[in-house]
Amino acid sequence: MVIIEAENNILSLKTQLLVNYVFTDQVSSLSLSEITTDFDPIIREIVETREFTAKEGSICVIHNTVGSSIKRVLLLGMGDKKNLDPEKTRNLTGKVVIKSKELAINEFVLVPFMEMDKDHLSAIVEGIKLSDYSFNNYKKDEEGTDLNQVRILIGKDLDTNQNAIRNSSVLSDAVIFTRDVSNLPPNDCSPKVLANFSVKLSENKKTKVRVIEKEELESYGFGGILAVGRGSSSSPKLIVIEYSGSTKNDKPFVIVGKAVTFDTGGISIKPSEKMEEMKYDKCGGCNVIGIMKAVSDLNFDTNVIGIIPAVENMPSGNSYRPGDIIRMYNSKTVEVLNTDAEGRIILGDALAFAVKTFAPRAIIDMATLTGAAIIALGSNVAALVGNNKELVTKILECSNQTGEKIWELPLFEDYKEQLKSSNADMKNIGGRGAGAITAAAFLSNFVDDTPWVHLDIAGTAYNQEGTKEKTYNPKGATGFGIRTIIKYIASHNAE
Ligand code: BES
Ligand code: MN
Ligand code: ZN
Repeated sequence: MVIIEAENNILSLKTQLLVNYVFTDQVSSLSLSEITTDFDPIIREIVETREFTAKEGSICVIHNTVGSSIKRVLLLGMGDKKNLDPEKTRNLTGKVVIKSKELAINEFVLVPFMEMDKDHLSAIVEGIKLSDYSFNNYKKDEEGTDLNQVRILIGKDLDTNQNAIRNSSVLSDAVIFTRDVSNLPPNDCSPKVLANFSVKLSENKKTKVRVIEKEELESYGFGGILAVGRGSSSSPKLIVIEYSGSTKNDKPFVIVGKAVTFDTGGISIKPSEKMEEMKYDKCGGCNVIGIMKAVSDLNFDTNVIGIIPAVENMPSGNSYRPGDIIRMYNSKTVEVLNTDAEGRIILGDALAFAVKTFAPRAIIDMATLTGAAIIALGSNVAALVGNNKELVTKILECSNQTGEKIWELPLFEDYKEQLKSSNADMKNIGGRGAGAITAAAFLSNFVDDTPWVHLDIAGTAYNQEGTKEKTYNPKGATGFGIRTIIKYIASHNAE
């Protein structure tokens, strides 16, 4: 795993590759004379001949022919400076990582651009770490050079900048850890495996993990989780991760994530095409494990609780069926009309449990909940539905800063009517229209008036047809949402 450090030794720098961010309006005055004079004549020529104009995303590599301590320089075109934002910095920095692999080098040094703020520094760290990721646990070692070390030249405020680099590295490592779990194949990732990963978090003294097993789920009346999990030979679990960062008795933030380790659809079975993608139906739950890891590794001073209903949705002689009426944890009854609308059923139990047990100050749930969210917004934007304007606004603000695009859908009363059942308190599907919203409307029956936001990450949790390629989201699971939620929780640190 690549280590990122601050470097303040500018004068006797040694590296395989020195990377420079260049904006179109600075290209004509480009000079590295503060670091080395080895490259300036060549740079002048490349700029004069317009071989390099700093066009956004362009790359120019220059080899050293006169000196030896800096072997090469890479000019990274950043386009017009007035269009700069952290998301662009994150994505373009990823290009350097990809190029460094082509060059078969295992380290480089970055010269940050002038007036760089903390958000851009974090974006650089994320761009490096997240684009360096690949899931290769199941392949014999591939040829190629691993990136080991990246240094970022820091001239002033060394301590503050070092801190920002460290925090962003820790957060990126949590995203990478999450991707590794999310990418596991369904034969190696049962609810039990997710519970084991969660239990490891209790190595931190502030974290307690409780795994509620099937027998206990029965005695407490988790009718939803039990119904969905019944068809699988891997038993369902409810995983509860409690992080106590505040010494006061502050109300906690609760983060709930759907973990269906494989979603066949159950008796309402899915078509076989692309069914393998349903191993990613656990991504919401995996994100919660990653968020709890980040919260504890960053030693937050807030109280945060992660809750993961974990099941496998399989067809069998034991499966729940269309027509079944189940009694949920909060005693409400649900008529099952489609066993493939299973995520909302397990989340309903988990949300009701969260409200009753923890009196949260806010609940956020993340779930690969509906194909309808993809129809509505595509595969690059997650759908948000919530019951509290202030919370919704805050989450959207955080999403603007992390580059994880989120768009709000409305929760009008009319949508709740689509779930009316003649046989039970509600049914689990709402008809043809507004599928992402009716799924959220279903969930709203389980949060009472606790401030709540639901994120449907069906389109964004993993790279799929229609996903826009990003350097920092290589193949497979993305960990989408973790950085936004961490930003949100961090904004309440030591307030
Ligand atoms: N896990 C799926 C949703 C999904 C679809 C996630 C595509 C990622 C990519 C969910 O459990 C599901 O099957 N939803 C159904 C609901 C329907 C039966 C009302 C759907 O979206 O088709
Ligand atoms: Mn389903
Ligand atoms: Zn599902």
